[in-house]
Amino acid sequence: MKIDFANLSYQHNLYKEEIEAAILKVARTCNFIMGEEVAQLEKSLQDFTGAKYAISCSSGTDALLLAMMAIGIQPGDEVITTPFTFIATAETIALLGAKPVFVDIDEKTYNIDPSNMEAVITQKTKAIIPVSLYGQPADMDAIDDIAKKYGLKVIIDGAQSFGSTYKGKTDSNLGDISCTSFFPAKPLGCYGDGGAVFTNDDLIAEKIKSLRIHGQTKRYYHQYVGIGGRLDTIQAAVLNVKLKYYPADLKRRQEAATKYSEKLKVKNEKLVLPFVDEHTTSAWAQYSIRVKDREALQERLKDKGVPTAVHYPMPLHLQACFEYLGYKQGDFPIAERVSQEIMSLPMNPYLRDEEIDYICNQL
Ligand SMILES: Cc1ncc(COP(=O)(O)O)c(C=O)c1O
Repeated sequence: MKIDFANLSYQHNLYKEEIEAAILKVARTCNFIMGEEVAQLEKSLQDFTGAKYAISCSSGTDALLLAMMAIGIQPGDEVITTPFTFIATAETIALLGAKPVFVDIDEKTYNIDPSNMEAVITQKTKAIIPVSLYGQPADMDAIDDIAKKYGLKVIIDGAQSFGSTYKGKTDSNLGDISCTSFFPAKPLGCYGDGGAVFTNDDLIAEKIKSLRIHGQTKRYYHQYVGIGGRLDTIQAAVLNVKLKYYPADLKRRQEAATKYSEKLKVKNEKLVLPFVDEHTTSAWAQYSIRVKDREALQERLKDKGVPTAVHYPMPLHLQACFEYLGYKQGDFPIAERVSQEIMSLPMNPYLRDEEIDYICNQL
């Protein structure tokens, strides 16, 4: 058997007629920038998430940048986040001249552990960025309490968790601002780069809309220093089709995750399965397990036609680009240990039962 990790080609074939017609329509009308498909997508994203504002943008990375610019993060500020995430979370903090301040993760969910947070808050701390890793929101009540106590803003990095929930709210309604990515391999992916920012705050929404177009308030009049951060109309056209089928995709990802867990629920301390807190639902961007002797296992699985991936092999505090922050090995032991053991199995809405059986048997 040869298994596809994200199976994007299967998905394209499934919706081919609709998606190709939508792309062709944009090509023929030539409204490549801020065409009607963009407004239509933003309306549908609001309806889907329940957030008051959905502002599409050029990527998940730019969504984070726009969110931090909107709350005025600037050089000298400190922003608390997790070291166990994709680089973009902390990179955007550093790009604004602020300092990423890391806090270790929870051993079960792999998300930031709020119990470690208060110890690192200083006069310079301005915001907290929890990441909903692999699709599951972090411990939001505890994070919100800390943010309230110290007057901090909360920005959700929901690049992997679009459509997940925390206590019944979609992750787009968590924090002051919530960001997502439509990178092709994300649960809701477009055909290139794309992202969105969500908020329920009128002033923040207005500022983000302006920052997305070079801080413009009126054509060629610039209130802020912004970025060129719009979503292409073609990407919006693709997303308009895919969003219609997204609730079914989310359900199928959940079913695949349940099947994996049922099948792998063996008493085997060499295998640690994903844990989803009872207050949350995951978008299952990844189904990631912890194993010993990961590299050898990956090789053996590859020989059997089972692709795997590692999200992520090196925590951010140990990355060369953040050497200047002065962290060292041992500072965040849980993130360090998990990064040595974590391994993602194929996950997509089209995984067949027999494929899951095959993968689990090989494991
Ligand atoms: C946690 C996290 N944050 C941010 C990003 C950045 O998103 P994008 O690739 O759309 O810029 C990603 C996606 O790769 C991610 O997984």
